Amino acid sequence: MNRFAFLIHPLGIQDVVRYAPRAAGKREALVAKILEWMPPYHASTITGVRSAATGQEIVGEFVCIPLLPAQFLQLQRSEVERRVLEGARLGQELGASMVGLGGYTSVVGGAGRVVADDLRVGVTSGNSYTVSTAIAGTLEAARTLDLDVRDASVAVVGATGSIGSVCARILARQVGRLILVARSKSRLQHLAERIHRESRAAVGLETDLERGLMSADIVISATSSGGGIIAPHALRPGAIVCDVALPHDVCREVARTRRDVLVIEGGVVVAPGNPEFNFDFGYPPGLCLACMAETMTLTMEGRSEDFSIGRGLDFERVEEIAALARRHGFRLAGFRAFDQPVTREKLDEVRYERQKARRRGMVVLGG
Ligand SMILES: NC(=O)c1ccc[n+]([C@@H]2O[C@H](COP(=O)([O-])OP(=O)(O)OC[C@H]3O[C@@H](n4cnc5c(N)ncnc54)[C@H](OP(=O)(O)O)[C@@H]3O)[C@@H](O)[C@H]2O)c1
Repeated sequence: MNRFAFLIHPLGIQDVVRYAPRAAGKREALVAKILEWMPPYHASTITGVRSAATGQEIVGEFVCIPLLPAQFLQLQRSEVERRVLEGARLGQELGASMVGLGGYTSVVGGAGRVVADDLRVGVTSGNSYTVSTAIAGTLEAARTLDLDVRDASVAVVGATGSIGSVCARILARQVGRLILVARSKSRLQHLAERIHRESRAAVGLETDLERGLMSADIVISATSSGGGIIAPHALRPGAIVCDVALPHDVCREVARTRRDVLVIEGGVVVAPGNPEFNFDFGYPPGLCLACMAETMTLTMEGRSEDFSIGRGLDFERVEEIAALARRHGFRLAGFRAFDQPVTREKLDEVRYERQKARRRGMVVLGG
């Protein structure tokens, strides 16, 4: 039976408590210190994922790298890479022919390059299918709210990253105006030059997040900032935000205070068959992340070669994995945000608030 492994890690202290209830009530700094001493471990076996095309069932292993996002960013890089490599080798020893790198395990180590160079089996960050599903979800949300993307201003936050840069290059061919947001100006300029060569889209660069968001009808956010960087006041009335980042870039207060804004999580997918993940990673039964789905799709294809590795992903790979995933029965989950499905009432409310803002002249572009 074809087998894969997928590397996960806690996204916040709430995940640590969910996996290890004894951590509840302990000081966060103490919990983080204990995590630093823990080696990667086998967290669960995934069963019941069955290809709709071939009927074949695959088996997977979750391997946990017990580090929080802040630790991935702040601990010595070589030490973090060593831990990720150790986890990936464990996946290989467990019999995986494909190893997927979830969350920040691919943000370090050259977007998967360090692990891919070490392992005998195939490695992927899962970022190509994440891009495909994030764009598909965003376009679907725009259609639902009667917003014509050809007239819209679209900000990609984390635009120079592995996910953000391909999202920006693909969207440049479809949207009215693109605003590229990240902290490094030189990397933004490099990306903008590439986009100019590939398409004729109007492109703006912004290193100031709030200025970048101010004029955006649509935002796709995929940073490795550690989360919580998009505050309620920064968003334009009637904006659509597709939050791909994990932990999420959009602050939870947006749910409470911005009735006029639609936030959707990017990259949430229904897996085919009767999947049992045997591990609570915070989604209802049957749902998984696009990066996991990419790893599963390649496993169903019997492939054991590197796929989405490095920061410059190919358009072709995004299209290829979307077609393969569709064939095997993966599909976009309905809109979700803040751990809940987005209700029809919420969509109606945002549509109404958008129309109101447009009448007041606050929404200039985007229909
Ligand atoms: N939903 C899913 O299925 C899924 C799948 C895979 C990954 N992810 C998540 O997607 C995110 C991006 O992953 P990636 O591999 O593309 O990461 P990456 O290659 O490291 O790119 C991160 C981008 O964020 C920018 N950035 C970092 N901090 C920022 C800040 N404070 N303000 C503005 N921009 C900032 C970086 O540029 P500068 O350093 O120049 O600012 C870069 O452009 C991560 O959160 C990851 O966990 C989600």
